[in-house]
Amino acid sequence: MKVALLSGSVYGTAEEVARHAGQLLENEGFETFYKPRASLDELLTAAPQALLAVTSTTGMGELPDNLMPLYSQLRDLLPAALRGLPGAVIGLGDASYGDTFCGGGEQVRELFAELGVNEVQDMLRLDASESVTPETDAEPWLVEFSRRLRKP
Ligand SMILES: Cc1cc2nc3c(=O)[nH]c(=O)nc-3n(C[C@H](O)[C@H](O)[C@H](O)COP(=O)(O)O)c2cc1C
Repeated sequence: MKVALLSGSVYGTAEEVARHAGQLLENEGFETFYKPRASLDELLTAAPQALLAVTSTTGMGELPDNLMPLYSQLRDLLPAALRGLPGAVIGLGDASYGDTFCGGGEQVRELFAELGVNEVQDMLRLDASESVTPETDAEPWLVEFSRRLRKP
């Protein structure tokens, strides 16, 4: 099964988490496609069978600029090829932002719902005010995600 990773990042932390997640998924026996700032064409050409989005939050609960082109294209076109795929979201944020904690991740969850992507696991919220090791903090969640992809 091929898992496409999408990422949105301002300072690079979410990209590091996505890269580490890709490695872990490959170790679990999955194929992966990960290209930061991939276009919609590149994503669809990869023909993913599952999606994992990893995004931080900026502004007041907004998505990072580098995810916006793909996010907008996906929302405008709602490609049928992604309908019904299993997926999940890892949100990076900082709980000290209160109500907008992991707001970027929430926006991707809403997008997944519009696309018909089947969210197979609750969003993982990584809190920068609690931990400085988000890559390794995500590992148990990713192992569970792998299990759910194998046995939907
Ligand atoms: C200007 C700015 C605004 C932010 N706004 C939010 C926010 O609204 N909600 C949130 O949960 N985190 C917010 N954060 C925290 C980041 O999402 C968090 O530090 C994240 O780990 C950064 O990941 P990145 O390096 O991939 O961008 C903000 C950080 C900065 C610097």
